[in-house]
Amino acid sequence: MVISTPPMGWNSWNTFGDNISEDVIKTIADAMVSKGLKDAGYEYVVIDDCWALKERDKDGKMVPNPDRFPNGMKALSDYIHSLGMKFGIYSCAGLLTCAGFPGSFDHEFTDAQTFADWGVDFLKYDFCFFPKTAVGRNYYNRMSMALKATGRDIVFSACNWGLDEVEKWIRSTGAHLYRSTGDIGERFSAARSISMSQWDKEKYSATGCYNDMDMLFCGMDGIGNVGHPGLCTDIDYKTHFALWCMVGAPLMLGNDVRRMRPEMVDLVTNKDLLRIDRDEECRVPIITKTKGEMHPTYFKHLSNNEFAIALFNFAEDEGRSDFRPWDIGFPKTAGFKLDLREVFTGEEIKGVDDYFSAELAPHDCKVYLGKYSV
Ligand code: GAL
Repeated sequence: MVISTPPMGWNSWNTFGDNISEDVIKTIADAMVSKGLKDAGYEYVVIDDCWALKERDKDGKMVPNPDRFPNGMKALSDYIHSLGMKFGIYSCAGLLTCAGFPGSFDHEFTDAQTFADWGVDFLKYDFCFFPKTAVGRNYYNRMSMALKATGRDIVFSACNWGLDEVEKWIRSTGAHLYRSTGDIGERFSAARSISMSQWDKEKYSATGCYNDMDMLFCGMDGIGNVGHPGLCTDIDYKTHFALWCMVGAPLMLGNDVRRMRPEMVDLVTNKDLLRIDRDEECRVPIITKTKGEMHPTYFKHLSNNEFAIALFNFAEDEGRSDFRPWDIGFPKTAGFKLDLREVFTGEEIKGVDDYFSAELAPHDCKVYLGKYSV
């Protein structure tokens, strides 16, 4: 199965942790429809850890916790499908999940079939309690083969937190996305450090298998499992989202969509940013740091001979970030110019053939969509 653009959806972990239930998942899915997120492309509704009972049944199958999911997973999956969305679930390559529920180690073929029978379309596959003597790659490959053998199209989302140089081998296992870092928390410094940690690894991300920099914390507003009240401003959310889009990362919302502010809906459904994220050429950006690591500039080729340029201010103080054409090999003598439109403000800059810069508030960014002109 080819997933030709980075997957988009929602995952329960950031906000709900182990506080999940059929009611939570259904009402979130409803809100994704009513707020226009589904129409914008957010299609996978993924239940993370803590959905199962601690014991398998007599046939060795995993059992959904009946207090939380009284009608079982097939009924929930049918509901999500009836809304025109897709259903995702979570398991682990190790003996137990990170929260101590059954893992799929040595149960891969049974579990994959169970998930297929439930109508699962997406499996996030974690790495806790993985035996030290086993080889991670083989167990990701084993689950991938087990999923494919069911005959159902199931997106395989590997999550070994970037260990064992995962970016170098994960594509060969048939996975469609791979977590490249430890867990995100709702603070700007987390989005910044995750981004910086992937600067030299984005080259491994391409059509069909994407570098997953973890779920988004946009619009969490301090609520929930990895929420930090008062730590994030709307500028932080904006730059976090722009950073993910500029590298073509999977976009999995992690907030409580039911109480999502309109500003946050606008941010994550911004058509220009989604076009940058999901451009069909799936190019990774050229990242230059001539003004230092706190002021990186991203240049990304897009289809239709277009491109995107993003200026970031990662610093805690106001500062100037810039685009220096010669840094990416574009000389003043080229005989053509760049016409830019900033995607948040609509500000236009026409005829660029030289250096330009922008004054940015702490953590802020500007993202331009551009075309060539003469
Ligand atoms: C972590 C994983 C998180 C979440 C959590 C559940 O290993 O990185 O995204 O899935 O486990 O216990």
